[in-house]
Amino acid sequence: MKEIDRREFMKAMAIGGAVLGLGGIVFHEPMEAMASGKYDIGQCKSVRVRCISELGWYDSKKLIGQMKAAGGPKTNQWVIPWDPNNAAGSCSLIDIETLDGRHHKFLLDTGWNRDYMDECFKREGIDRMLKTGEIEFLFISHEHLDHFWGLETVLKYNPEIKIIIPSTFYPEGMHFLRGAEFITPSARNRIPHRGKLVQLKPGTINKLYNGCAGVVFDLPIVIRVRGEQSLYFNVKDKGIVCVTGCCHQGILTFADFAQQKLAGGDKMYGVYGGLHIAPFGPIKPERAHLITGMAKYNFQKVACNHCTGLAAVKKMIELGYPVVKGSGRYTSVSKLYVGAGDEVLFG
Ligand SMILES: [Fe+2]
Ligand SMILES: [Fe+2]
Repeated sequence: MKEIDRREFMKAMAIGGAVLGLGGIVFHEPMEAMASGKYDIGQCKSVRVRCISELGWYDSKKLIGQMKAAGGPKTNQWVIPWDPNNAAGSCSLIDIETLDGRHHKFLLDTGWNRDYMDECFKREGIDRMLKTGEIEFLFISHEHLDHFWGLETVLKYNPEIKIIIPSTFYPEGMHFLRGAEFITPSARNRIPHRGKLVQLKPGTINKLYNGCAGVVFDLPIVIRVRGEQSLYFNVKDKGIVCVTGCCHQGILTFADFAQQKLAGGDKMYGVYGGLHIAPFGPIKPERAHLITGMAKYNFQKVACNHCTGLAAVKKMIELGYPVVKGSGRYTSVSKLYVGAGDEVLFG
């Protein structure tokens, strides 16, 4: 085969692969409500969350400066010249034990910096679990750089892993899944996703296992992202656990949804993840109600990290909330919350 022909052939193969990938997109079948109007997602025995990394980036000032210089919070994240050396990322391993004693593991988000995430994956054994298929799928909360742009590192170990995304993804995010490189923001995924791609539609309740469901909240989010999907677990004899990436929908909206729509929602048990209350330092006055408003749920375990912000965690401790402490290891800067390499058990 002549060189030019071979190149054309390879290109056609690549396109064929992408088309195949596209053909694998399915919408998850949402649940139907019971006569009471509530949804019964079943129950699980426990859920254990291991924080692989919760640090989104190293230097907030630098990150905000780059965003402002590029046009501010409405600017598309895919056209901002981010400093790749400022990137870290948010990623957690979820291990749910169903009532029959079986364990199922899946990954919540991919982090951002590919090399950094690779280090984290090796440290926590995620690389091996991806290779063996022990991690059953990847659940991407939203398109934000610090949750999604580390995708290549996941696909490097398992390009066929099932991925669950909100149906609100922008075209850039869809391209990224198929393999794409965006030069300006230093975002790269050279490994096309070859597995099943499942989209969840906003507002629907999507049972993933007995006692575990995903819900998409449709809303515009800074740097032109739309929609975030979060997780609910119904732990037998304990109550509902809310697990989130950034919680851009707000913790009150997130927890209220469980109270109003889920069977068992009258008993809230815990929360894990980023709550986007004080992501860049001090608590802004307009966000303070998110902290005080959490009191009504009477959570038994509050395991907030990432964009919750240290100031917000300190305020929760001051208010007497049962904040789960961590070890302050690796890139996590405080022992006051669950950080990299720490885990929390709800059950
Ligand atoms: Fe985040
Ligand atoms: Fe976010």
